[in-house]
Amino acid sequence: MEPIDLLIHNASQLITCAGPGPRRGAAMRELGVIPGGAVAVRGERIVAVGPEAELRARYSASDELDARGGAVLPGLVDPHTHVVYAGDRVGEFEQRVGGASYQEIMAAGGGIASTARATRAASVAQLVAETRRRLDQMLRLGTTTAEAKSGYGLELAAELRQLEATANLDLSHAVDLVPTFLGAHAVPPEYAGRADAYVELVIEAMLPAAARWHAASHFAAAGTPLFVDVFCERGAFDVAQSRRVLAAAMALGLPLKAHVDEFSELGGLAMALELGAVSVDHLDVTGPEGIALLAASAAVGVVIPTVPFNLGGTQFAPARAMIDAGAAIALTTDINPGSAPCPSLPLAMAIACRYQRLMPAEALIAATLNAAYAVGLGARVGSLEPGKLADLLILDTPDWRHLAYEFGGNLVRSVVKRGRVV
Ligand code: NIG
Ligand code: FE
Repeated sequence: MEPIDLLIHNASQLITCAGPGPRRGAAMRELGVIPGGAVAVRGERIVAVGPEAELRARYSASDELDARGGAVLPGLVDPHTHVVYAGDRVGEFEQRVGGASYQEIMAAGGGIASTARATRAASVAQLVAETRRRLDQMLRLGTTTAEAKSGYGLELAAELRQLEATANLDLSHAVDLVPTFLGAHAVPPEYAGRADAYVELVIEAMLPAAARWHAASHFAAAGTPLFVDVFCERGAFDVAQSRRVLAAAMALGLPLKAHVDEFSELGGLAMALELGAVSVDHLDVTGPEGIALLAASAAVGVVIPTVPFNLGGTQFAPARAMIDAGAAIALTTDINPGSAPCPSLPLAMAIACRYQRLMPAEALIAATLNAAYAVGLGARVGSLEPGKLADLLILDTPDWRHLAYEFGGNLVRSVVKRGRVV
């Protein structure tokens, strides 16, 4: 008998999501369900997954975790967040309910600029404290890995404080984080009307400093990448400016992401795909040509149903058409103080099923395996298979589909992160 540290057993269904990724097209519906399955864990990692009787015959566990007939599935991966920030925008929420649009508020100096003011004024310790409570909620709702963007500093020192807070939280909180530099999130007020000059600053000073920061951080030592992202949108950065930022990042050897087609289809999608972005995110207004380009590319399309929901909109990313065309789709909350103050990936799944017509199985692959690939961690998390981190959820229901079927509550009974109940 081989010794292991933990055997998770008595699952009604073990949803492995195992296999190569990212999954595209019809393969997004394949979940790899093992009825009565169990998971063997040694240290932080999974050593075996299979029928309970087989695992019991092979392993002797020093500890056991009884799923008590609940469904067991991989920890969720949130591949696009702005979770590190100070303050809130509840006042803007009221303005929006009263009829103002997100873009009107942004044009009037609110929006991202308002959170940038609060974030610039915050210390690393303050950012860590304010963000920790959001990560606590995300963890309780099943997120075990999340990407985390900078982009509320919009000046070198404050951007680096956001990255530093991300590193601190990665080491001190159970949720694993993947850092992204998003210096080109908005044109800061001191550069108003001079977007090109700000892009110059991002390229010449901020990007190299972020790359140096990453190289010296524990992230690099752990093989966790630093992504570079840009907000390609009217009122933020146009396609040419976005291309300059991403090309400079590429020259530094950093992997790319891009916010594209959130409110306007400017051509950022084609540009980001041409540069080899790992993911292209938002895609709410992507048309047929963009769908075809995405499907033909290696990139993951990260769709964000929480944003149109939160903004009271009706135009959701055409994720159904994208999957039918053969694209790989991931789901995210985009948790941030403006467009989506939402920690819940299960809620994102619930909305995606209803308004984007994803099948529950597709929504789950989108929030696990494909999301892991969207943040460059496809070999580490996103499915239950030998060698991956033992990140998994035990649900309060024997049928995992309730995760998308019910909404507004929390069906996650237990969370195991790196082999420990957290
Ligand atoms: O992903 N689109 C740009 N950035 C965020 C919103 C950030 C904010 O409103 O503070 C987004 O929606
Ligand atoms: Fe975003």
